[in-house]
Amino acid sequence: MRVDFLVKPGGKLSGTLRVPGDKSISHRTIMLGAIAAGDTHVTGFLEGEDALATISIFRALGVRIDGPERGEVVVHGVGLRGLKEPAGVLDCGNSGTSMRLISGLLAGQDFDCELTGDESLRRRPMRRVAEPLALMGAHIETVDGRPPLRIHGNPRLRAIDYKMPVASAQVKSALLLAGLYAEGETRIREISQTRDHTERMLQAFGRPVRRDGATVSVSGGPLHGTRVEVPADISSAAFFMVGAAIAPGSDITLAGVGVNPTRTGAIDILRLMGADIELQNTRTFGGEPVADVRVRYAPLNGIAIPRELVPLAIDEFPAIFIAAASARGETLLAGAEELRVKESDRIQAMADGLRVLGIRAEPRADGIRIPGCRGDAGSAQAYGGGTIDSCGDHRIAMAFAIAALRSGAAIRVRDCTNVATSFPGFIELARRGGLAISQAPSE
Ligand code: S3P
Repeated sequence: MRVDFLVKPGGKLSGTLRVPGDKSISHRTIMLGAIAAGDTHVTGFLEGEDALATISIFRALGVRIDGPERGEVVVHGVGLRGLKEPAGVLDCGNSGTSMRLISGLLAGQDFDCELTGDESLRRRPMRRVAEPLALMGAHIETVDGRPPLRIHGNPRLRAIDYKMPVASAQVKSALLLAGLYAEGETRIREISQTRDHTERMLQAFGRPVRRDGATVSVSGGPLHGTRVEVPADISSAAFFMVGAAIAPGSDITLAGVGVNPTRTGAIDILRLMGADIELQNTRTFGGEPVADVRVRYAPLNGIAIPRELVPLAIDEFPAIFIAAASARGETLLAGAEELRVKESDRIQAMADGLRVLGIRAEPRADGIRIPGCRGDAGSAQAYGGGTIDSCGDHRIAMAFAIAALRSGAAIRVRDCTNVATSFPGFIELARRGGLAISQAPSE
């Protein structure tokens, strides 16, 4: 059943909340745990549909996985060469991370298999992994560059020295995983730094990864099972960070959030806009920095978003656009063409939704111009309400739910079912924080 979000206007956010586990890290615990020797014990695992799709795929590849139960998972690793040919097609659901990273792993197997996904995933570009994996000696068939993917593995891949044409942690990670099955050292050059969870986790599993400027390298060889504590997902926390930053009187603390510097672009961007964000109690969970993030309301100003922050905030732009719509003066984003090929075309989906609220956002090929709100930045109503289409995209849905904190009328967001891919329990947690949100069957 499809559901819509119904959100009453106004209010503020307060208290201490813990958002679910990091999606990127959760996927990787299963993937690396599966091909490690020995068991991997995971806590704080995200029990969202994307990460659950990764678990189902590895079960189909012959890996025994216990849980998840209250965030705990045990992966009984089968070793680098222990995966088994699956009986059927592997379904990645909505998850680009599952499809792209698992392609890298399957490229090094001595069997063939097929990966597919839902309607949104079947529209997303896959040549970015198919081409470099072909250079390594695997053969990957796509349908005009899109899923389904038929992967013809090659257990003796060649190491490559590859300059990535896109800033993508998924492509980098697919190649690092394929590199575990290659003879020699696989070197990947990034055009700009992207999230480095795969590199950090490979080290935690005993496989050294070298970084030399923009180049990361890995050599083939075994992994060893370990314990991983997954931090709360900064991409989920971002909705509450923005909510508190735009709603007068807010004071919220998000507990145990992953603050890996390759993920904190949203904090930097919001601070440049004038947000009051404090990192408290900073500590490390197995190679990943974690902090409690306290956000108090402060008036925001529009900015030109520095290009170097774009890959470091790539999943947070739907929320950041709501901050921009609530700020005084215009915000400009450029160099973010990747937003057009996420779970939806996020530039278009956000521009359309902002227009419903009365904000004349101008979409561009690689970004957007958002004029900012009417009146002064502190006035309770920054824009109107209305019915918005999430385009089936979890982050568009949550961004417009949070927008109601500054709207002059109620907001209905259509087709929010996919929020469960990354943020199970969003409605309950948002209500606890102070958002007047409920759900109803889709109209
Ligand atoms: C992810 C990388 C990013 C991000 C996605 C998760 C990952 O995708 O948008 O949500 O876990 O590696 P790209 O690699 O396409 O930028």
